[in-house]
Amino acid sequence: MSDPQRHPPLHPDIGLLTGLVGSWRGEGTGEYPTIDTFSYTEEVTFGHVGKPFLTYGQRTRAGDDGRPLHAETGYWRAVAPERVELVLAHPTGVTEIATGSVRVVPTDDTAGVTVIELVSTMIGLTPTAQSVTGLERTFRLQGDTLDYTLRMAAVGEPMTHHLAASLRRVVAP
Ligand code: HEM
Repeated sequence: MSDPQRHPPLHPDIGLLTGLVGSWRGEGTGEYPTIDTFSYTEEVTFGHVGKPFLTYGQRTRAGDDGRPLHAETGYWRAVAPERVELVLAHPTGVTEIATGSVRVVPTDDTAGVTVIELVSTMIGLTPTAQSVTGLERTFRLQGDTLDYTLRMAAVGEPMTHHLAASLRRVVAP
């Protein structure tokens, strides 16, 4: 039997975020007015230590030649039943603080889709980071599928679509 000190149960405040826990893999497409459109593959892992936050790690590779692209790491804090706070670090010299809502939207089947909408409240930039002034993320979680879109205000452009991806839960063998 696993040691409950080392492997505590999920904190009850994780609530509607529970379905995120695990590993995800999939593909996405990126665009922005200043760059060429690109495709990418992505791996995401949400973990927990029994406290009211999820650990989060993401890494991506280019769809054409597999070279590493963006990565990000941080925490999703479950601060109230339908509220979440993000604390993320990006290797591009950007830190992202965001707050948002988590709600279940009814669908034709009984399960519903969990919609998470996040808007940055504070972006930190190292002296050499590119100018990023705002980020918005929308996640849609339905069973073993996690879709998201990301918009950003950056390099002089207003809030504009940058990413859309669809991930599938990685089932342990
Ligand atoms: C799945 C995650 C992401 C992927 C795969 C990705 C990929 C890319 C790629 C391939 C470019 C083109 C230029 C380059 O190769 O660097 C780019 C540009 C850029 N990305 Fe992302 N990105 C991701 C997430 C983000 C996030 C979260 C931010 C902000 C924190 C961001 C900010 C930017 C900026 C500022 C540019 C530069 C635009 C320009 O130079 O005109 N990206 N991204």
